[in-house]
Amino acid sequence: MSKFWSPFVKDLVPYVPGEQPKLSKLVKLNTNENPYGPSPKAVAAMQAEVNDNLRLYPDPNSDRLKQAVADYYGVQTSQVFVGNGSDEVLAHAFHGLFQHGAPLLFPDISYSFYPVYCGLYGIEYQQVALDEQFQIRVEDYARPNAGIIFPNPNAPTGCLLPLDAVERLLQGSPDSVVLVDEAYIDFGGQTAIALVDKYPNLLVTQTLSKSRSLAGLRVGIAVGHPDLIEALERIKNSFNSYPLDRIAIAGAAAAFEDRDYFEKTCQQVIDSREAVVAGLQGLGFEVLPSAANFVFARHPGKDAAELAAGLREQGVIVRHFKQQRIAQFLRITIGTPEQNQALLDALRGL
Ligand SMILES: Cc1ncc(COP(=O)(O)O)c(C=O)c1O
Repeated sequence: MSKFWSPFVKDLVPYVPGEQPKLSKLVKLNTNENPYGPSPKAVAAMQAEVNDNLRLYPDPNSDRLKQAVADYYGVQTSQVFVGNGSDEVLAHAFHGLFQHGAPLLFPDISYSFYPVYCGLYGIEYQQVALDEQFQIRVEDYARPNAGIIFPNPNAPTGCLLPLDAVERLLQGSPDSVVLVDEAYIDFGGQTAIALVDKYPNLLVTQTLSKSRSLAGLRVGIAVGHPDLIEALERIKNSFNSYPLDRIAIAGAAAAFEDRDYFEKTCQQVIDSREAVVAGLQGLGFEVLPSAANFVFARHPGKDAAELAAGLREQGVIVRHFKQQRIAQFLRITIGTPEQNQALLDALRGL
């Protein structure tokens, strides 16, 4: 606290990201990164951008990337927004779309950045309880709201809301924006982008940090009606004209263009997830059904915080949230088969 701060700064409760340890030997299963590297074509495209042209500003509109996303999803470039990680895209959406004199609704267990953005932008919100099986109950969202946001699959549970239920949510709140945060959709769900032409109140965000293995590059996208995209563009152009640098634009576009590599590596993660689920169940864990690149699991006879600490002693890090309802769960990112084996071996001894 300092006299130089604007008054609201002292009340901010910032987001706490998962640990990025400096030790390289650890089996790092705590922040849902992809165990496989990005597309070699994306790496080559980024390397080709490291040249004299870096003295010039990048394209403020990232047209090449928007075109690659539009081609991939069969939409118009006017329906696409891109930003510095989906966190930035989400921030602009909170700022530009969710202030309408009623609360924003999101699940009681979901991405912990949502209440942080509400704090930053002064947005009123209500958390809607997931049911006993940690699923979203669509009927619970039929109440006055300034918008609805949820991750699909949900984080940190990994549970998927089927597309027909997403559509019911959209129909239930036609006068407010429904934002589907699809950070993990490529690991087992169907994207709601298929619905954007039908529902002008639908905004879908995705990230290149997970299924396209570019967490270090910081690129996220949004797809929706051009009017929603224009709101995001207005905010972006009032904040930072160049959120994506030349390297990010080239690498992200190439990653969207390399479908084969993307599909192959997603399938590898999905196959490994099924093996991890079986391994955990074999050790007595209860595992929620996951459509993501992580699983959410609890052991009826073992304390989650102690398990996380025991794993850490053996060089395996997973995520544990000291939060009501989920304090006995561990969120475990799917790694390579070797990493997954190391996790199961370490758990066997605890
Ligand atoms: C649900 C959800 N949304 C958004 C993000 C942000 O992703 P990024 O800013 O890396 O694009 C994450 C990251 O973990 C997430 O879990």
